[in-house]
Amino acid sequence: MTTEKSKILVIGGTGYIGKFIVEGSAKSGHQTFALVREASLSDPAKGKMVQNFKDLGVTILNGDLSDKESLVKAIQHVDVVISTVGLSQLMNQLNIISAIKESGKHIKRFLPSEFGNDVDRTLATGPAKSEFSMKAEVRRAVEAEGVPYTYVINNCFDGYFLATLAQCETRLTSPPRDKVTIYGDGNAKAILNKEEDIAAYTMRAVDDPRTLNKTVYINPPKNIVSQNDVVALWESKIGKTLEKTYVSEEELLKKIPQSPHPLDLLLALNHAIFVKGDQTWFTIEPSFGVEASQLYPDVKYTSVNEYLSQYCTIKTVDDPKTVNKILYIKPPENTLSMNEMVAFVSGSMNVIMSINHSVFVKGDQKNFTIEPSFGLEASVLYLDVMYTCIDEYLSHFA
Ligand SMILES: NC(=O)c1ccc[n+]([C@@H]2O[C@H](COP(=O)([O-])OP(=O)(O)OC[C@H]3O[C@@H](n4cnc5c(N)ncnc54)[C@H](OP(=O)(O)O)[C@@H]3O)[C@@H](O)[C@H]2O)c1
Repeated sequence: MTTEKSKILVIGGTGYIGKFIVEGSAKSGHQTFALVREASLSDPAKGKMVQNFKDLGVTILNGDLSDKESLVKAIQHVDVVISTVGLSQLMNQLNIISAIKESGKHIKRFLPSEFGNDVDRTLATGPAKSEFSMKAEVRRAVEAEGVPYTYVINNCFDGYFLATLAQCETRLTSPPRDKVTIYGDGNAKAILNKEEDIAAYTMRAVDDPRTLNKTVYINPPKNIVSQNDVVALWESKIGKTLEKTYVSEEELLKKIPQSPHPLDLLLALNHAIFVKGDQTWFTIEPSFGVEASQLYPDVKYTSVNEYLSQYCTIKTVDDPKTVNKILYIKPPENTLSMNEMVAFVSGSMNVIMSINHSVFVKGDQKNFTIEPSFGLEASVLYLDVMYTCIDEYLSHFA
């Protein structure tokens, strides 16, 4: 495997998944460029995101998919081009392909905007099928032009599908605590991944010869679950049974064409993924694909179980005192001036040294038994809390 990290251009970096890809690229040590439209810079939210990119060392290049010259210029800077443009821009990616050819630059890899289901192996119907066929058309153009490629199939984004318990059309930002709609019998297996993990696997793949001209599937075993599995897991976490409404495949297929856009698309995606099992029905053959968690076992991905746990630790969500209020996290002990902080650290040196002595020399935290008369151990008490082990914590810095 090559050790030299490619220079990466992200087109669509201010979008939903694009933000994670830009950040993942910069944080993993790739010299990173983001092509950003002039208009985005004047948008307050996007402007803040762009500033964050700059703080991470990302070079911002102005440009637009419809301005070929800006694409050619941007491509001159890099070895790898990643597109994360949204649905309405999928076909405009043909401009990226021709800009890659025109640039005369040897581009080592192009990752078109995929980041979903495998569009060459799909059981989708209706608007989902139309979306997928555009991505397939872009694939055929990439292959016909001989541009080296990798197609990243991350299946479902957690933020869209797990936070909603597989009801992406609800746009919920945290799982419901009262009721849920189950599609079909709820047993078809899907694959749900956290956005940061998708970025981490993508970054591993860009320079890996094993992924050249291949489809990379992000199918980590703990994240292959049905809608019923996800709902049952959530119910066990909140200690409550949700009211369930079952929508049969027949009813869903009837509802899709009657729904306005984009609801029709979201329902069609639910049909493909959670009724037909679009992400799990086929076998990955070495001739066309590789699986990311097998290729990169050191990437500590977030399991569905761990992801759902985050919603159980937010104290304010169920607290009526915080409704329609801004919650400030300003504990008095943590409010310090710079001078106070410096004085605190230097004045505390003897305390820190004596804590180190008791903990690491005397074994102060381990040298007694917890008796039921005075104590309880948390990981025994709350088995469902997925705590971060030391190995995982240290991996963040590797
Ligand atoms: N697996 C899943 O669960 C899932 C869910 C949603 C999407 N996806 C897939 O993920 C991919 C990205 O979708 P997304 O929802 O993250 O995209 P998005 O949020 O709609 O972002 C689109 C990006 O494209 C940029 N863009 C739009 N028009 C452009 C132009 N003319 N020139 C240059 N840039 C332009 C936007 O820039 P501005 O900021 O300037 O608008 C933005 O950065 C798609 O392939 C989509 O199908 C997957």
